[in-house]
Amino acid sequence: MTQDELKTLVGQAALQYVVAGEIVGVGTGSTVNKFIEALATMKDRIPGAVSSSVASTERLRAIGIPVFDANEVGELSVYIDGADEIDGRGHMVKGGGAALTREKIVAAQSRRFVCIADESKLVQALGAFPLPVEVIPMAAQRIARQFAALGGKVALRLKDGQPLVTDNGQHILDVTGLSISEPLSFESEVNQWPGVVTVGVFAHQKAAVCLLGTASGVKTLTY
Ligand code: 5RP
Repeated sequence: MTQDELKTLVGQAALQYVVAGEIVGVGTGSTVNKFIEALATMKDRIPGAVSSSVASTERLRAIGIPVFDANEVGELSVYIDGADEIDGRGHMVKGGGAALTREKIVAAQSRRFVCIADESKLVQALGAFPLPVEVIPMAAQRIARQFAALGGKVALRLKDGQPLVTDNGQHILDVTGLSISEPLSFESEVNQWPGVVTVGVFAHQKAAVCLLGTASGVKTLTY
């Protein structure tokens, strides 16, 4: 099976976690796009969604699913999103699609995070995928030096030759060379550096379930 087919498989499998009659939290990325396509078949059974990005909002609205502002609704029963890496404890690295801050906000507002991923995303330890960090631009150089002190190498994410601007009007640093052996404390520490909007480690908002697309079908991992 191709990676695209595995993404379709887990996107469809995630439908079983959507609660009829309730608003669903929707993440961002190519795997979530498959979930959004599948969600079209359930659109008459849910009031709508809270979305983690402008891109997902546009896709949801295009298929006729109302999108609510996070402030208009209370706690969500479930948040469905992809990951760049997920470890054996449900800790993730996210932000490959630059939507990490809103993803963390919607995840924090949800009782259960259901991660959908193909098996290439499952890792022993986080850190091989360049770690996305959303930062306020004036703090970028100082934050880069802080990561360098930890052994990290920092690149400012570009789009069309210019710094990529997130949905929140900020920039993304991608950090390589880090060893993230303690995701919870690492996330807490980096998140309190001045100018960091959020770091792409999701340990405090970890997955409760991962639907992993494998050659032999969807494996359900619970944490
Ligand atoms: C976007 C994300 C995505 O969930 C992550 O990058 C995985 O994306 P894909 O499903 O395209 O592999 O965190 O900010």
